[in-house]
Order: sequence, then C-alpha cells, then structure tokens
Amino acid sequence: MLEIVDLCSSYGEAQVLASASMHVAEGEIVALLGRNGMGKTSLVRSVMGLGSPHVTSGTIRMDGDVLGGLRSYQVSAKGIGYVPQGRRLFASLTVLEHLQMLDRGLPGGWTVLRVFDAFPRLKERKHHRGNQLSGGERQMLAIGRALMTGPRILLMDEPTEGLAPVAVENVEAILMALRSEGIGILLVEQNLYSAMAVADRVYILETGQVVWEGVPATLMANPDVLQRYLGIN
Ligand SMILES: Nc1ncnc2c1ncn2[C@@H]1O[C@H](COP(=O)(O)OP(=O)(O)O)[C@@H](O)[C@H]1O
Ligand SMILES: [Mg+2]
Repeated sequence: MLEIVDLCSSYGEAQVLASASMHVAEGEIVALLGRNGMGKTSLVRSVMGLGSPHVTSGTIRMDGDVLGGLRSYQVSAKGIGYVPQGRRLFASLTVLEHLQMLDRGLPGGWTVLRVFDAFPRLKERKHHRGNQLSGGERQMLAIGRALMTGPRILLMDEPTEGLAPVAVENVEAILMALRSEGIGILLVEQNLYSAMAVADRVYILETGQVVWEGVPATLMANPDVLQRYLGIN
C-alpha cells in the first residue's frame, strides 16, 4: 500500500535521509526504530509532504500513485494519516472542538461519534481543553483526530513518549484494534519493548539509512544489532 523507495531528504544543504526504502501493507504494524537524531521524524515528515525537510530524490507511492510534490493536505486525502511527535494539540480548544473542526464527512473518514465510541474516555472529557488532558488522553485525541481523515495508513511518531505504563498499554491496544480493521501503521518508537509487543515487522534507521530489517523475534534474538543500532545491552 505505502512504498518508499530510495528516499533522500535534506534540511537546507544537510542531508538527513540517504536512500531510505520501506513499505507498509494493509493491516500490518511496522516499527521504525533507531536512536535519537537518526532521521525517523524526518522520514515521516518527508512522506507527509510538510516541506521541511525537503525531498531531494526517491519515490513515495500510495497504492501505486506517486505522492512526490504533493502538499500535506493532498497526502492526507490519499489516505495517509499523521500523528506527530509531541501530539500538537491546541491548549485552548476542547476535545470536542479539536474533532469537530475535522468532521467534514470525508469518504471513509470517522465522525466525532465514532471517535467517542472508540475512545469513551475522550467522550467523558469532551469539554476539557487540550491543556487539561493527561498524556494518555492527549495521545488518544491525537489519534482520534488523525482518524477523522479516514486514513488507511497511519504514520505515528512516538505515540507512547512520556506516557505512564497503563497509558502505553492503552495505546498498544488501540494500535492492534486499528490493525484488525485493516489500517497499516508505521510506528516510530523509542520504546523497544512496546514496539516489539505490537509490531509485525521492523526497520532500523541509522543516519538516514535503513541498516536492518526483519521481524521482532529475530531482532530480540540479536544482541549485536540491539547494541550497535539501539544502544541496548
Ligand atoms: N528543522 C531542522 N533543521 C535542521 N536539522 C534538523 C531539523 N530537524 C531535525 N534535524 C536534524 O536531522 C537529524 C534527524 O532528526 P530527526 O528526524 O528528528 O531524528 P529522530 O526522529 O530519529 O530522533 C538530526 O541530526 C537533527 O538534528
Ligand atoms: Mg523524532
């Protein structure tokens, strides 16, 4: 469904992605791992067409259609949803307002009611403002907001960052429920154990290049790779 081939991107003159390739199929969770500063956020930003970093070469395809040169709203209209690192909510808007501004009846898009069905906690908090939510509630809202555009692929940048263990489990359960609906997920994670609990496949990024790919069981049985690329002893 989503294919990224030999993607190169730069911030100004500084190259951040150096020929990275990966794919995400329908109904699979693909973990994208790598130490801080290795280019994970830059990769999802490049796919989303955010302009910074800018793509210098390579191809991104969704269902065979080339996405190159599209703006982020056009990428989202192709069925790619984005949950940014740090969640990017509005402190002064309520939960309901965050969702209502996206309730445009897009084909395949979720409605506010459906988001509240999936996340009863958000319904209870619908009149709370962004800055009054817990970390786990903010993450649910960020995911709910991405679902409003009806994505078939979700790019999620460190959804468990800063969350308490129970909220991490909650996010894992949400990811698995979305997968069972056929949504493909590219999951950027620092939390190896959370990623391994849900991922079907794994890529490791090192200075903008994919240096390892495989399945979680193989990665966990490979202390050299864990040590070299993730700093885990
Ligand atoms: N806006 C920016 N301008 C210039 N360099 C950046 C910018 N954002 C990130 N970088 C650099 O790009 C590299 C990759 O960063 P990033 O994609 O955020 O890594 P990760 O998400 O894997 O931690 C880092 O060296 C970082 O310093
Ligand atoms: Mg990042």
